[in-house]
Amino acid sequence: MSKPIAIAIDGPAASGKSTLAQALAEQLGYLYFDTGAMYRAVTLVALNRGVNLEDEDTLEKLAREIDIDLKPASKKDGRLSDVFIDGVDSTFAIRSKEVDNNVSAVSALPRVRKALTEKQRAVGERGAVVMAGRDIGTVVLPDAKLKIYLDATPEERARRRHAELLERGITPSYEQILNGLRERDKIDSGRAVAPLRPAEDAVCLKSDGLSREQVLEKAVELARERQDSNGDGNAPKPYHVPFGVRLFRSTFAPLFRLAFRILCRVKIDGRENIPKVGPYIVAYNHISLFEPPLLLAFWPMFAEAVAGADVFDRPGQKILVRGYGAIPVHRGEYDRRVIQDMLKVLAANRPLMIAPEGGRGHKPGLRQGFAGVAYLMDRARVPVVPVGIAGTSDDLLKRALRGQRPEVHIRIGRPFNLPPIEGSGEQRRAARQANADLVMRHIAAQLPEEYRGPYKPI
Ligand code: DC
Repeated sequence: MSKPIAIAIDGPAASGKSTLAQALAEQLGYLYFDTGAMYRAVTLVALNRGVNLEDEDTLEKLAREIDIDLKPASKKDGRLSDVFIDGVDSTFAIRSKEVDNNVSAVSALPRVRKALTEKQRAVGERGAVVMAGRDIGTVVLPDAKLKIYLDATPEERARRRHAELLERGITPSYEQILNGLRERDKIDSGRAVAPLRPAEDAVCLKSDGLSREQVLEKAVELARERQDSNGDGNAPKPYHVPFGVRLFRSTFAPLFRLAFRILCRVKIDGRENIPKVGPYIVAYNHISLFEPPLLLAFWPMFAEAVAGADVFDRPGQKILVRGYGAIPVHRGEYDRRVIQDMLKVLAANRPLMIAPEGGRGHKPGLRQGFAGVAYLMDRARVPVVPVGIAGTSDDLLKRALRGQRPEVHIRIGRPFNLPPIEGSGEQRRAARQANADLVMRHIAAQLPEEYRGPYKPI
């Protein structure tokens, strides 16, 4: 399995590094950490308190004392992450024009930099992080396994920033932005401490003329290479899908799709949330026999699946699970080999489908998610795609054959990442269960109220 690494992304203002870093982190299941937000936070608090911006003593004290918390974006309003200063949501306050105009001066102060660099290094050293800034590859994380320096011409960057601000309803002139960027470039590159420049071992990417997707694709490719060569140097074995299994899947998936479409009214929402490339885990609710074949038949690419070991001996069903090439699991037991198999699937960049509740519930209500699933997810560190399926039941086929055309509704939610499991012993066990419950709450958010069981949607 590829090992989590630290990734440094540096570049000038408006080069697109924050957007790239956030998308890359989401893709890899890593933490996205925007160091610029920390300099902005210190600047904002200083401005609000009327601190003289040349008073390095007071600014250093501020940098050490204020609590700056960066969390995954909680809203879809253009933010890449949530920024809290002493518990107050300051995500947009730190992006004001006044902060823009003063942050370069504050970030040029050596003792402010030292205070914030220490905090950033502590986060970076844990790994599994994409850190964006100006000096990450050169100063904050000089040992980062991958360093990207993202650049674009000032004109291109000014064009992008202009469009971004217009979208937020702010209407500055293009020339104003271009001049502002040039001024900030001069300060950021010319300062004595940690000036903006690519690290010697950084991969330089110029984003002029490239779409966000193209830049992301390149970065994902680089990250995968470095992950694979991290640690013992053994590249993971490719995951091999036997020919018979491939033939079964490509023959039966379209047939199942057709049969479901004829017999039921299948409604699918949230297709746009399905990641374009793997690896990721699909976590779904499990009521009856029908959710796994439904999902496998309608998913846009063949996903690997897990099935209870007992199913491999059940007449009828065994043909399907064996034919599809599902991975057998003994429910409720810890089986190292199965975990290895699942990690292998993900290491080969393939999607993996799992029902965190274990077996079927026979009733609509969600049941508690297994902590073991959170263990696997913690080991894998890939995004989780929550899926809620409503309308299925043990007698779905009977209802369908009576000509009722029951409605089956599949809702696919946005991929999310789980917080890392830390601590030891009992603490770890509790953290695993908390993560399993978090997954269930994401699934609950995709289901109607009567399906949610004990879980409040996230
Ligand atoms: O990336 P940004 O525009 O949000 O950064 C705000 C300011 O902080 C910018 O002028 C440069 C500075 N900065 C820095 O000096 N070092 C970092 N690692 C990140 C940002």
